[in-house]
Amino acid sequence: MKILAIESSCDETAAAVIEDGRKIISSVVATQVEEHKLYGGVVPEIASRRHCEAINGVVSETLERAELDFKGIDAIAVTYAPGLIGALLVGVNFAKGLSMSTGLPLVPVHHLRSHIAANYLAHQELKPPFLCLVVSGGHSHIVEVTDYTKMKVIGKTRDDAAGEAFDKAARTMGMPYPGGIHLDKAAQTGDDSAFKLPRPKVDGCPYDFSFSGLKTAVINQIHNAGQKGVTLPVNDLSASFRKAVVDSLMDNFTRAAEDFGYKKLVLAGGVSANSLLRERAAEECQKRGWEYYYPPLELCGDNGAMVGSQAYYEYISGNIAGTSLNARATMSIE
Ligand code: KG4
Ligand code: ZN
Repeated sequence: MKILAIESSCDETAAAVIEDGRKIISSVVATQVEEHKLYGGVVPEIASRRHCEAINGVVSETLERAELDFKGIDAIAVTYAPGLIGALLVGVNFAKGLSMSTGLPLVPVHHLRSHIAANYLAHQELKPPFLCLVVSGGHSHIVEVTDYTKMKVIGKTRDDAAGEAFDKAARTMGMPYPGGIHLDKAAQTGDDSAFKLPRPKVDGCPYDFSFSGLKTAVINQIHNAGQKGVTLPVNDLSASFRKAVVDSLMDNFTRAAEDFGYKKLVLAGGVSANSLLRERAAEECQKRGWEYYYPPLELCGDNGAMVGSQAYYEYISGNIAGTSLNARATMSIE
């Protein structure tokens, strides 16, 4: 079964053709990051406009690269939640139009479920059940993936997402948007014990995260130093911050795996590109003899391929939308 999938939840206009949920036939990602960089973050109105301009070309190029027309496609899939509402609406309405004009079924896909599915494209042997740490610009969840379309959140952030914390700390250090990747790079040559930073815990909720205090601690250190005319060593601060975030993520993730009896751990989402997180998860899993999976770098960020993968499993579980499908800015992964 070949699915044409569309993604427009944030600042990437993307499409892909995916076969049986596991094989990428073609995939095109048009990023808007250079334009949002000028403003230090995503400007929702600009994102929506750029999706409108790009979507037709991205979908056409995806079909061209796959050497297919709509006769060779079995379903249209689209990210419909969660994300920037104006951005999502562009993809959803485009997909609805395609579905109506071709008569192909329309499959709605949850953005975070698709981040998890990025792993199915890279690891043919990976099947649920497993425990997944989904860490992106907007979400930080520990999710029990009991089946392809059955999930339970057992921990989540109480305030900022991990990616958001990385981006805000990086911005205060003068790095361009999106800062996570720049902070990760700067941290490679830094001393991670140079700065003492908190490891916030949420009372009574051992699997939940809190990153806003950590982010504020870094921002305060930079501002206080600035007021004294001192410039802090960015590499050391990046390394200390990265370690604090990864310690928090991995402490809760491994504790949850132990408590819930999971021996197969998976990373997903934009922050799963973080080199320390990937290393630490590998170490922790190896120590305990657990299986460990993470997406290749090109599938960590937003893309259409992961949407097409998850869409296959949504389709076979009967999740098909009508023409009344609407976009939603927030929606539980469950
Ligand atoms: O999943 P994603 O592409 O978009 C959302 O659905 O939010 O995640 C984007 C987030 C951004 O906050 C970005 O800074 C972060 O992923 N990110 C990283 C790295 N690469 C991307 N954070 C830390 N280290 C990285 N190497
Ligand atoms: Zn995403």
